[in-house]
Amino acid sequence: MSIMKPTRNLLLVLCPMLVLGFLYYSSGKLHLRVWGQKSQSDVDSSLSVGHQRASVYDKQGFLLKLDGKLPLDLSYKYGNLSEGTCKPGYAAAKMTAIYPKFIKPAPMFLDRNFKRLGKVSNYLPPFGFKTQEKIISDILSLTKNYGLGPELDSMNCKRCIIVGNGGILANKSLGSRIDEYDVVVRLNEAPVTGYVKDVGSKTTIRITYPEGAIQKPERYEKDSLFVFSAFKPLDFKWLRQMVHKEKLLGIEDFSLSLSFPWQRGTEGFWKSVAQHVPKEPSEMRILNPYFIQEAAFQFIGLPLNNGLMGKGNIPTLGTVAITMALHNCDEVAVAGFGYDMNAPHAPLHYYETVKMSAIKESWTHNISKEKEFLRKLVKSRVIADLTNGI
Ligand SMILES: *[C@@H]1O[C@H](CO)[C@@H](O)[C@H](O)[C@H]1NC(C)=O
Ligand SMILES: *[C@@H]1O[C@H](CO)[C@@H](O)[C@H](O)[C@H]1NC(C)=O
Ligand SMILES: *[C@@H]1O[C@H](CO)[C@@H](O)[C@H](O)[C@H]1NC(C)=O
Repeated sequence: MSIMKPTRNLLLVLCPMLVLGFLYYSSGKLHLRVWGQKSQSDVDSSLSVGHQRASVYDKQGFLLKLDGKLPLDLSYKYGNLSEGTCKPGYAAAKMTAIYPKFIKPAPMFLDRNFKRLGKVSNYLPPFGFKTQEKIISDILSLTKNYGLGPELDSMNCKRCIIVGNGGILANKSLGSRIDEYDVVVRLNEAPVTGYVKDVGSKTTIRITYPEGAIQKPERYEKDSLFVFSAFKPLDFKWLRQMVHKEKLLGIEDFSLSLSFPWQRGTEGFWKSVAQHVPKEPSEMRILNPYFIQEAAFQFIGLPLNNGLMGKGNIPTLGTVAITMALHNCDEVAVAGFGYDMNAPHAPLHYYETVKMSAIKESWTHNISKEKEFLRKLVKSRVIADLTNGI
């Protein structure tokens, strides 16, 4: 014992030194790697900032210095493709370059094996599907389809565009450019008929939650997938009734309205919902709730609130759709996001006359924090913004 003691003391001193040495070494390496891609003047300014890790990445884990240039390995990979050719894996590769924590695999829709998705199985809606497993299994046993369809699923390079509902889309004649994308994503009740010149005519998927769904059956377009995004447990009940073509009765749940007080009235929804969705079960999908979780807690940095829905921690559906596309599309574009600050009297939506001044302080979303995230994507050209509103 008495022989061991000095050795132990020595170890006690050595261990923290090793740890410190390792930390110093790894932070140095990190800088070297980042400096390697920068010009001499950047290196000089970084040197004066010092050796802190915080000088390279922001709180969310995005590079602080963003630009649209391609890292060397990517410019080699894509350099020989002719202008306008779809670049396989581009969005995820550029995302990883500015946000090294990005992990690509995350399926678009839930399938019969959804319980394997560990990141969402432990969270309640909207950040996961905990407590809803039975109802989801029941829905998926009827829809029997879990992808975009054979043609799109087999493409080796897919370009997707998320069409937002912003008034900034009006009178820009972008319709034909939008229709050129392989996958055109529309949100909630945003109409196509009557606006084709500006918003295009193609809809591959329409992502919606019950309160946002198109209410008039005749307004549903043919050949699009009805993609359901759940924000509260009650939403899954609604979807089950839509899939089973049941009448919307008995959906009120008193215990639910106690835990979600803002849902009181209108039978648990915050506004009236569609009573019927004129789509076959085979045309319905459930969006992987991981995109809500990742957008909220990792990309935007909204309050975790123990993983429960709370004030200002729900991302908007548009940002959820962009997050989905980063994982599942090779190139990602958006249109109709954000507002034209030079036109304060412009309409809020391209299909309504409500003015921008009608924007209300939102309880659920944090629009300004969300915009910070979207600006990072645009600035570094992870996504292209056709209407320049972000
Ligand atoms: C691009 O073209 C050059 C010259 O033809 C060739 O040396 C290089 O290997 C090509 N790169 C890729 C990624 O195909
Ligand atoms: C678009 O053009 C129409 C017809 O010229 C006009 O009535 C409308 O106000 C314009 N909308 C916007 C947002 O500029
Ligand atoms: C949005 O986030 C900012 C910064 O974290 C915070 O100050 C603000 O209160 C948040 N707004 C809402 C509506 O939660």
